[in-house]
This record gives sequence, C-alpha cells and structure tokens, in this order.
Amino acid sequence: MAATTGRRSFALSVIGTLGTLIGLGYLVVAERFMLPPPESSSGLQLVGNSSDFQTGAMKFFTYLGDAGFPDGVYVGRLTQGLVAYDEHCAHLQCPVQWNAGIQEFLCPCHGSIYNIEGQRIGGPAPHPLNFHKVVEKNGKVYVGAIIQWGTAEWTAMAESLGLIGKWVPGTIPGTVQYSVTQPGSGG
Ligand code: FES
Repeated sequence: MAATTGRRSFALSVIGTLGTLIGLGYLVVAERFMLPPPESSSGLQLVGNSSDFQTGAMKFFTYLGDAGFPDGVYVGRLTQGLVAYDEHCAHLQCPVQWNAGIQEFLCPCHGSIYNIEGQRIGGPAPHPLNFHKVVEKNGKVYVGAIIQWGTAEWTAMAESLGLIGKWVPGTIPGTVQYSVTQPGSGG
C-alpha cells in the first residue's frame, strides 16, 4: 500500500513538474510574440550605428514590433538616404533575398526582381516593396512599423527618396509598374 502511494505521489510530482515546464514555455512564447521590442517603447527597434550602413549595401534584421510578429526587414543606404524594405514580395509574400553581387532583391517563388530602390524590375509582382519606417538619430539607426505600398505614408517616403518620378502607369491592370530598366541596360 505504501509502495503504491509512493508511486502515485512520484507520478503526480512528475506531472506537476511537466505542467510547470509547459506553462513556462508558453510564457516565453507569449513574451516573444506579445511584448514590444525591448529597445524602445515607441515601436522603434535599434539595428545599429549609422556607420554600419554603407551606401549600396543591405543588411537583414528581424523586426519584432508589428503586433508582436517577427518581420524581416532589409536596411540599407541609398545615395538619397537610409531606407528599410519589408522582406515580403509584393506578389504572394514570399521573402525576397538580397543579392549583393547584382544589387537586386530576388524572389525565389516566382522570379520577381526588385532593384536597390525597391522597384519591381521583373516578374509578376504588381508593385514595389513595402517600406518600414527608418530613423537615424544621434548616430544610431532604428527601424519601425511597416509602411504599406499604396498608402499616403508610403508615397511620402518614396517622395522623400526621390523615387516617385521614375514610375509610370503599368501594364498590370489596377497596379503600377515601373518604367525603370535593368541596371546597366542604359535606360
Ligand atoms: S511571391 Fe514573389 S514572385 Fe511570387
């Protein structure tokens, strides 16, 4: 009888320990996805020093501020200033990859191509990459929330980077397509 009681208490203690561990696991996951990034209470996330971002290079970061969901962001410096692009392709949201050798973002899913200014230069994507807010202050660079294409905020950012004049109405119905050509093609 005593042996049975001992086994029962041991089993209960193992179950209790497992329950506690599972609960802690959930807490860690909840904290990961529900809390804002620790760097800032304003949704801005520190990604480096200004000197880390050289013209023509792109760096990848995971931004944790969009409703707690991790979001891949490319941050780089154009000749016009700092820029941050959301990693998701404008076609069906696959993550694009930066190819430093040819200075283009390539989508592995259906072949969309974007130049360093985020402009679609090939493939089925109907519009440019979405931006993220990017702030340079006191020698530090911060990334903020996504700025969706088609919003006034997106247009304002594109204007601030001098990109708007490069676009013409496109051939994909209801969308905008770029008139820019592949780098090096002379157009
Ligand atoms: S998802 Fe990128 S081209 Fe289709």
